[in-house]
Amino acid sequence: MGPQPYYGPDFGLLQRQDPELAQVLLDELERVRGGLQLIASENFTSPAVLAALGSTLTNKYAEGYPGRRYYGGCEVVDRAERLAVDRARELFGAEHANVQPHSGATANLAAYAALLQPGDTMLAMALQHGGHLTHGSKVNFSGRWFDVVSYGVRRDSELIDYDEVRELALRHQPKLIVCGATAYPRLLDFAAFRGIADEVGAWLLADVAHPIGLMAGGAIPSAVPYADVVTFTTHKTLRGPRGGGILCTAELAARIDRAVFPFIQGGPLMHAVAAKAVAFGEAMRPDFGEHTRQVTANARALCDALAAEGMRPVAGGTDTHLALIDLRDLGVSGAEAERRCAAAGITLNRNAIPYDPEPPAVASGIRVGTACATTQGMGPEELKEVGMLVAQAVRDPGAAPAVRERVAALLAIHQPYLSEY
Ligand SMILES: Cc1ncc(COP(=O)(O)O)c(C=O)c1O
Repeated sequence: MGPQPYYGPDFGLLQRQDPELAQVLLDELERVRGGLQLIASENFTSPAVLAALGSTLTNKYAEGYPGRRYYGGCEVVDRAERLAVDRARELFGAEHANVQPHSGATANLAAYAALLQPGDTMLAMALQHGGHLTHGSKVNFSGRWFDVVSYGVRRDSELIDYDEVRELALRHQPKLIVCGATAYPRLLDFAAFRGIADEVGAWLLADVAHPIGLMAGGAIPSAVPYADVVTFTTHKTLRGPRGGGILCTAELAARIDRAVFPFIQGGPLMHAVAAKAVAFGEAMRPDFGEHTRQVTANARALCDALAAEGMRPVAGGTDTHLALIDLRDLGVSGAEAERRCAAAGITLNRNAIPYDPEPPAVASGIRVGTACATTQGMGPEELKEVGMLVAQAVRDPGAAPAVRERVAALLAIHQPYLSEY
């Protein structure tokens, strides 16, 4: 028998060599295990994904694409990227996939680079109504380099106003229409966006950074049949490593690939590409479909419980993994609610609600998501209790110790990273 194969992670070694940094890793795990994680954009990726992330593939330079690299010795990492691309295409029924974007923001940067020139007009959802910074905010490259027209949600229903989207598209003739959001709890009508894009001859980009995992698992309808380009992140509901990806039509494949490399990135992170392949493989299993249906059922249970406690769900509820809650009736700001929940062992984020009278740093709402809790094995009954605990913590700072106790009891049964998945 030869020597033990070396495959990567050795926590004992890190502890011996760099105890200070090793302690950070331990403390973060303890933080996560010591509280409820309701941040809608987070998840607990599998140990198998973590193993690929911690592998020696991080060492390899592989500028270019499989079979067309600018470095030697890429024949092995080529296999990782081919697996990732093939799995992504099969999982989403897409004609082409690019798995190299380092993040959701760079996936969007590449998609814009493929479709637009500086100064071109694009139509996207306003940040204040749930859109993302990369959808045209002035503090982001997208708002600086493009002529951005924004649509929002209706004041009465808090749903996207498709009449407004169409009117703005007809008036401004954008070259690109972006749909997708970071804080919109309802389904998007991709067919309506497609129809509007066709009417004005615009490209349609669906940024499904958040719900991509739900689409992979079949819990909600996919954007892929409708959009020319779909950008996504791999670390939210998809439960993979931190990173981004792009799906597109065969027609746009070469443009998208050139936009990712060499236009906006250099060498791909091959350990992350390998980990994306692992995550796509996991998402292809039938149990992932079941998991995503549980995520949405849990979000409904959480949202209903919060509503029953007088915490108003924006847009009347949720169809996805997240809910946006208007706290104005309680007289507590989003920032204060975030602090009170933290003191009670519940991590969530403040969030602007549509037509928010408060500045973003204060905000009138909170955003909650159920991806982490579902990965931990919680079901609707637990999420109902979580809703009551959030309400208690937000209403009464004095309730923090009692809420913390209940949170600890829930976590004693549902610890992340205790079972294989
Ligand atoms: C809709 C949307 N697009 C893009 C991004 C950016 O992703 P990343 O943080 O990986 O750059 C996010 C992140 O929350 C998002 O919600």
